[in-house]
Amino acid sequence: MKKKINNNFKFNKQNILKAKSIIAKYPKKFQISATIPLLHLVQVQLDGWISKSSIEYISKFLKIPLIRVYEVAGFYHMFNLKKVGNNCIHVCTTTSCWLRGSNLILKEFEKNLKIKVGETTNDNLVTLKEIECLGACINAPVVKINNDFCENLKLKDVKNLINKLTSRKKVLINKNA
Ligand code: FES
Repeated sequence: MKKKINNNFKFNKQNILKAKSIIAKYPKKFQISATIPLLHLVQVQLDGWISKSSIEYISKFLKIPLIRVYEVAGFYHMFNLKKVGNNCIHVCTTTSCWLRGSNLILKEFEKNLKIKVGETTNDNLVTLKEIECLGACINAPVVKINNDFCENLKLKDVKNLINKLTSRKKVLINKNA
């Protein structure tokens, strides 16, 4: 028996237009390549995560098997398959960052936020995540907060970054800290 698909998610009008223009960039046979940009659109529309029904929607939208969308959504750390807080802190723990103390930075975030990696604070302000190389190794250790990179981080910067999030200030890119 065919499984019933729960398809509550739909792109809003603006995102339908954006999705169509993204798909148009790819040759007809290769529209599967639009999976990543479309998942980004979903994540923005759903305030930071990708629901099961949105994965089903993208599969129908691109006319590709469901598993193809799941594979992509599940592989890349930038996609959240669970609801997240209002802000996402991603601490890179790959080699260059680890050698420069990212494990201590991660612990400092855990201590100050009173959560473990993978958890969200009670006030929904922050979800703390570990992430693989962000491609900014030259300025390790690197933390990504929402869409901003904070580089050359020191332990003492952690409190300051959390304070900025608490006071809803923009987190600055911190290349020369
Ligand atoms: Fe952290 Fe590359 S190892 S940015």
